[in-house]
Amino acid sequence: MHPLLDRDAIDVPPSAYLSAVGTVFAQFDQRTQDSGNVSFGVRIGAARYFVKTAGSASDTSGTLPHAARIALLRNAMTLSRCCRHAALTELLRVIESPDGPCLVYPWLDGELLGVPRAQRADPGSPFQRFRRLPAPTVARGLETIFDLHAHLARAGWTASDFYDGSLLYDFTANRMYVIDLDHYRTGPFVNEMGRMFGSARFMAPEEFRAGACIDERTTVFVMGRTALVLLGDGTLDASAFRGSAARLDVVARACDPAPSRRYSSVSAFYDAWRAAGPG
Ligand SMILES: Nc1ncnc2c1ncn2[C@@H]1O[C@H](COP(=O)(O)OP(=O)(O)O)[C@@H](O)[C@H]1O
Ligand SMILES: [Mg+2]
Repeated sequence: MHPLLDRDAIDVPPSAYLSAVGTVFAQFDQRTQDSGNVSFGVRIGAARYFVKTAGSASDTSGTLPHAARIALLRNAMTLSRCCRHAALTELLRVIESPDGPCLVYPWLDGELLGVPRAQRADPGSPFQRFRRLPAPTVARGLETIFDLHAHLARAGWTASDFYDGSLLYDFTANRMYVIDLDHYRTGPFVNEMGRMFGSARFMAPEEFRAGACIDERTTVFVMGRTALVLLGDGTLDASAFRGSAARLDVVARACDPAPSRRYSSVSAFYDAWRAAGPG
């Protein structure tokens, strides 16, 4: 019986269980995460896993209470079970624990493109190393992200809290992964927070306005900003954009402040991006 892949439940805290059955070689907690979640890299034999938990109920350092963190993990479980895509890590198993569910994923050999603001200009940061790759390679990474979000949108999922901290890039295999989709929601919804979770560099105007509708056109905006951040300087400045004028036009429409003037679906945006041709 495999200690992770064949287990439904444990009766000790996740950290104790994981260090008893394997070697914990990485831990993501309040030192780097503001989510309040605690995740682990664990080696068992030759295999490595990423195990995500809501942390303990007594940890109040995160922005959300423990019950809300658990609800977000269960939301990620629902999304994983309904959508498969090459950019998503497969959810291998869920183990219930006294601290809530433990989500077991394969460990990915990649680097997080989102780095703390102070390192964002550092040429050695994964963010800048990715932005310096040949433009067609960057475009392929972007297209993986667009394709995933078109797929999710067709299944009814609206992006939320997507930013470069959701991008794990394997520079050796040139593979892009999207992680941490815990905040994605099914269907359109009303912004009840005012400023929502997320990085302002990627967020649409309606994500700052309480009462505004958040829908697929919001995801279109976020995809446009992703292109600008990774293939340009984050703005519509044409001299900084490493793509054709036709592609910049597509991105400008995606990033229109008025949702009604954007592409009405992620698929329509991605079709227009492809029709604009490479370069
Ligand atoms: N499958 C994975 N393999 C390796 N590292 C991962 C994996 N998924 C996430 N990570 C790393 O763990 C960190 C925390 O995961 P994340 O899902 O973003 O949790 P949180 O909800 O705390 O933001 C990420 O920033 C990334 O560096
Ligand atoms: Mg995260």
